[in-house]
Amino acid sequence: MAATRKRPEDLRSHRWYGVKDLRSFGHRSRTLQMGFAREDFAGKPVIGIVNTWSDINPCHYHFKQRVEEVKRGIWQAGGFPLELPAITLAEPFQKPTTMMYRNLLAMDTEELLRSYPVDGAVLMGGCDKTTPALIMGATSMNLPAIYMPAGPMLRGNWHGEFLGSGTDSWKYWAELRAGNIDERDWQEVEEGIARSPGHCMVMGTASTMTSVAETLGLALPGAASIPAADANHGRMATACGRRIVDMVWEDLKPRDILTADAFDNAITAIHALSGSTNALIHLIAMAGRAGVALDLERFDALSRTTPVLANIRPAGKFLMEDFYYAGGLRALLAQLRDLLVLGCMTANGKTLGENIESARIYNPEVIRTRENPLSPSGGLAVLRGNLAPDGAVIKPTAAEPHLHKHTGPAVVFKSYDDMNERIDDESLPIDEHSVIVLQHAGPLAAGMPEWGQLPIPKKLLKRGVRDMLRISDARMSGTSYGACVLHVAPEAFVGAPLALVRDGDLIEIDVEARRLHLHVDDAELARRRSEWREPPQKYKRGFGALYAQHVTQADKGCDFDFLEGTAETPEPDIH
Ligand code: FES
Repeated sequence: MAATRKRPEDLRSHRWYGVKDLRSFGHRSRTLQMGFAREDFAGKPVIGIVNTWSDINPCHYHFKQRVEEVKRGIWQAGGFPLELPAITLAEPFQKPTTMMYRNLLAMDTEELLRSYPVDGAVLMGGCDKTTPALIMGATSMNLPAIYMPAGPMLRGNWHGEFLGSGTDSWKYWAELRAGNIDERDWQEVEEGIARSPGHCMVMGTASTMTSVAETLGLALPGAASIPAADANHGRMATACGRRIVDMVWEDLKPRDILTADAFDNAITAIHALSGSTNALIHLIAMAGRAGVALDLERFDALSRTTPVLANIRPAGKFLMEDFYYAGGLRALLAQLRDLLVLGCMTANGKTLGENIESARIYNPEVIRTRENPLSPSGGLAVLRGNLAPDGAVIKPTAAEPHLHKHTGPAVVFKSYDDMNERIDDESLPIDEHSVIVLQHAGPLAAGMPEWGQLPIPKKLLKRGVRDMLRISDARMSGTSYGACVLHVAPEAFVGAPLALVRDGDLIEIDVEARRLHLHVDDAELARRRSEWREPPQKYKRGFGALYAQHVTQADKGCDFDFLEGTAETPEPDIH
């Protein structure tokens, strides 16, 4: 952080507004055209509010109001707010997957901040990919930035039972297929599961990533846990607006905050939350933008020493609303003091340690103490072996324990369509010991959608089977559960070992030993590889073609190779 405060003539926006030439005449007259007075903007920090609101994003449906609350804070602190809409990335609707567009929002964010007269930014996100995308873009641009999390929606409700986003959809979908509930029940679940603005309210990708943003120090303390519908959420939005103006004067930038220690803190939080497997991909990409080298091994190392304390679905019992009432993220982090680097700087100008100093747990059933963890370690585990030379991930806390160590014959599906066609075929030779394998669902093959919670065949569901070992190069929704090995790298599309698995091959998993092994000898694998043919590229033009040319594999964060790193991009010429 800079020791001295900036002066108005040091502001980046001064080049647009403050100089005496024909161009700045245009900038001023066009701002006055919108009804602003000269004193509204002259010599003030211009704050770009990157807003991912849209009519198709239910998780950000309250952002129309929140953006006014952010603006209120910016005006209060003497800044000039400018709302800059960015691509929305609405998880439930965008196909083939929002993952394909995360880097597009990152580019959108970076270029909005670069090309306009912005001194600092408020990043409004929450729905899964919006958080890492906004942070990636803002980190690359490296102007002062604060993240405003959307907040989780209220608990779902059905017949007096609490429902969790995604998690209970999968659960009751399986019950419907097994014949245990009827269509009317299913429709009522549909009507009760999402009943307020806000992101998914289990510890899915959204709650994990907003908690990551707060632990990293990019959000105000306590911000990530506030339910979207709570009046405190609006006050938090206004506080973000106030704070960013001072961050500009102080010149507190993302890369001052995003150190290797801050990423270690975030990984520790992910494990203690039993957070989404998607976080591994996003954190590696975010760290890459900050110039911090991060790999899967770091996640695994910290997983072994971090207890799971958040008793939240899908790994636990409660929902984000309960987490907030129980003390929220600050209370959880306070339990982990000895595992965190407390001196890390955060957006409010204080250290992480100072921010969690007074935090307390109000419900030790929801946020467990260190003496009574949900699990002593292992929120996530990174597996390696001849089936995943560059790694794969599993969430052991969301899998049935007997599948942590298991060997079974593979039942292989070549694609998602192939799986959908055959999975419920009564004649499919499969039982609860089988290992379901899905190929061609990785970053290049399909944009890496959340297909990784592969369905259990109907005939096994009817027999009461609710978990099986499943392996793919896809991702899995953070709201999902089960013994699902994900992110197998390299992916099948590039001819990796996953592409060479055949029906009946024995596959062994040993989570404790972090092992994923295909029991096929090297000579046979070499023979199969010689028969393998590269699949055709799907996209001939457009964003899909750009994506296919530049996306990296899951273990590298799926960023675009030309966006990684901290090499400087020139400021725009203002002529
Ligand atoms: Fe937006 Fe889950 S759909 S967070």
